Amino acid sequence: MKVTVVGAGNVGATCADVLAYREIANEVVLLDIKEGFAEGKALDIWQKAPINLYDTRTVGATNDYSKTAGSDVVVITSGLPRKPGMSRDDLIETNAGIVKTVAENITKHSPDAVLIVVSNPLDVMTYQAHLVSKKSRNKVMGMAGILDTGRYRAFLAEALNVSPKDIQAVLMGGHGDTMVPLPRYTTVGGIPVTELIDEDKLNQIVERTKSGGGELVKLMGTSAWYAPGAAAAQMVEAIVKDQRRVFPVCVKLEGEYGIDNCYLGVPVVLGKNGVEKVLELKLNDEEMQLLKSSEGHVREVMQVLDKMS
Ligand code: NAI
Ligand code: 2OP
Repeated sequence: MKVTVVGAGNVGATCADVLAYREIANEVVLLDIKEGFAEGKALDIWQKAPINLYDTRTVGATNDYSKTAGSDVVVITSGLPRKPGMSRDDLIETNAGIVKTVAENITKHSPDAVLIVVSNPLDVMTYQAHLVSKKSRNKVMGMAGILDTGRYRAFLAEALNVSPKDIQAVLMGGHGDTMVPLPRYTTVGGIPVTELIDEDKLNQIVERTKSGGGELVKLMGTSAWYAPGAAAAQMVEAIVKDQRRVFPVCVKLEGEYGIDNCYLGVPVVLGKNGVEKVLELKLNDEEMQLLKSSEGHVREVMQVLDKMS
């Protein structure tokens, strides 16, 4: 299996590293526009192979898409990250152009590849990749839900003093402050979380999750990369190994949840064809209202993109 990661910055290089050391693909191509940058990162990861004992071949390329030809999965991380005080939506002008160029080149050289978009604003950049590549909806998706649930699960593990491995959760909606964590679907070793934590504490964790990306931007001056890179790699693994894992993923909704033609995070089954199935939960009125409000926000930003083209 061949996987390309576009953008050799913080998230892209981390993703490539996880793909290599976990031997998720045989070949990983890292591509960046900055001269020599991807080659350097790929060489560094390759030189770690004899130390960490893996044989995934990592190759770098400066804007040379011929090296990415025939990729099975492509992760798009190219684009500006936000700085303190910026929202993800502030990145649209620059990143829409970058994602457009990248999606055009990738589609030309790897027409059958599944695309996983990471660049922000996530839901709308996934829409952009779909518009440009014209691929069916199962083959164009965005990574955000695994990261956002990862944050939620980590905060819960800390509060309950239990292993994060035992916390299962799902979160829906756009990748932003309108995301919809779903405590009703959160369990700890099979036990509903509401039986283990009081409501106030749970609400605080939900709120911290919603602004989890911003918390890191404030601390570091740029956005996160370890968890985002690992989350994108986990999606790649589910696809290349046809694992049929259930993850929250940003996908085009076509009537599910009463929402049509909008990119939003929902639980899906991920396998060799990309999104194999969108799972429809029976949301209660309050949860549905939150999802609709998130839809409204994402649609506004989708319209900004529509007006740009
Ligand atoms: P970074 O600045 O470290 O890396 C971005 C890389 O993209 C740079 O190396 C740059 O040279 C490259 N690039 C720019 N234009 C390009 C082009 N046309 N072709 C190829 N490469 C190009 O940024 P970082 O931290 O890796 O973040 C990347 C993106 O991912 C940002 O938009 C960020 O907001 C987003 N992000 C999304 C997350 C999510 O949950 N969906 C989580 C974390 C970051
Ligand atoms: C995050 O949530 C910035 O979207 C990125 O960390």
